Amino acid sequence: MEYLRRRLVEEALREGYNLTSEAISILESQQNPLETLRYIIKYLRTSRPEVIIVDSSHLREVGLKVVDAGYAVSDIVIEKAPLEEWIPKIEVDERFLRHYKIKGEIDEFQNYFKNRYMKIKSILEKRGEHFSRIIDLLKNPRGSEATLAVILLEKIEKEQSIILRVEDDTGTARLMAPKRDLELAKKAERLVVDQVFGVRVSKIDNTFIVRDVFMPDVPIKWRNVDEESIPEVYIALISDLHIGSKKFRRDLWENFLDWLSNSRDPEVKRLRYLVVAGDIVDGVGVFPKQEKELEHTSITQQIEEAAGLFSEIPKEIKLIISVGNHDPVVRALPQPPLPDKHRKKLEKDREYIFVGNPAYIKVENRSLLVYHGQSLDDIIQYLPNISYSMLEREIKNVLETLIQCRHLAPIYGENTLILPTQEDLLVIEDIPDILHTGHVHVAYTGNYREVVLVNSGTWQEQTSYQREVGLEPTVGTVVLLNLKTLSAKLKKFM
Ligand SMILES: [Fe+2]
Repeated sequence: MEYLRRRLVEEALREGYNLTSEAISILESQQNPLETLRYIIKYLRTSRPEVIIVDSSHLREVGLKVVDAGYAVSDIVIEKAPLEEWIPKIEVDERFLRHYKIKGEIDEFQNYFKNRYMKIKSILEKRGEHFSRIIDLLKNPRGSEATLAVILLEKIEKEQSIILRVEDDTGTARLMAPKRDLELAKKAERLVVDQVFGVRVSKIDNTFIVRDVFMPDVPIKWRNVDEESIPEVYIALISDLHIGSKKFRRDLWENFLDWLSNSRDPEVKRLRYLVVAGDIVDGVGVFPKQEKELEHTSITQQIEEAAGLFSEIPKEIKLIISVGNHDPVVRALPQPPLPDKHRKKLEKDREYIFVGNPAYIKVENRSLLVYHGQSLDDIIQYLPNISYSMLEREIKNVLETLIQCRHLAPIYGENTLILPTQEDLLVIEDIPDILHTGHVHVAYTGNYREVVLVNSGTWQEQTSYQREVGLEPTVGTVVLLNLKTLSAKLKKFM
């Protein structure tokens, strides 16, 4: 309530009005306090231009029924279409709620990669492929052909060819992809180091020549959930608020809140879920000299500010919170949900569903893979022809790479910290209906083979680092998705 009070006072001051404490209490008790205040200001400006202090008598004038102790019933009611007999339906895969720990032993790394390899190999096998082993290939006669499932150790560009150094669970091999086969060269170029993929080779003399390369990928058609069984309910996807940063656009956020509470848009009336894919706060000590860019220099202040901003989201909307690299939680993937002490602060004023990063969630029978997107940096830096300055156009390719690799962080050991857990939870085992990412602050929504791809933009103005690399963020964006039809649209708040 403290937060609402502050907003009412600030909004009135911005318009040149002061509110008496009685007027504030009356406004607070309204169904739509801010909307009511704006209505009153509009009335006073045209009918009572001499007024600069708003008291209860002015509220009466516009038709608010003020009862003795400041309690009021508003005549200004914004309709919300309740969904009849609607019961929220959310399931979170509990593997993405745990706090994983490792000992740091070499075995753990070996087991992690073995698990990654086996999981993706079995995805490749589902396509009907049968794989030879590298150890047997070496014994094969010249001229023979074989298909392998391998991890890419290294990719070396030569003038005439691309050399792929690969490994399976039996050994390593050096494969040569001739560049004169343009189609093949293009496929080899798209491969990223540490990913698991399939390759067809023939043995010519003592060299293995690549004939084809194939990604684990997803089938063109794979969905079998009946659309009819899913209610016409909307989900809003956002990320990268960076609350606590001087660059956080509170004004745009407030416009979003007003839209959530007051708009007559059909999507809003049926909006029942909101997902935040990490970087809720800007954090402290995330990068050198960050304090210069902070409005709130402690995590506690940042979380309290977030609690205020989230408490304004209408209660009928289920709020699902994941985490990112700026949030106060273990940095390496898979990240656990926000720690208890921060959750408690948030939970004072509303309910939340806290999940880790990544998180596999089922909402109304639609599967949603929420992932902050730390590894997108590695892919942008590794793949040729992609850079931050052209991300608006290329984000589609970057997200498609994750789906084609069936892995959320295919490149190991660069910018993205990955815990070598027993099970590689970053493998995309079950194909999601929706992949929701953030992190790069560029908004995008599109489809790739029946998977809805989303990057949900940001609420933070361009940072100095982003300016240096030429990245233009999409500020104040929400992706609205109809869970029944899976059609998505980008809404921008100005
Ligand atoms: Fe971010």
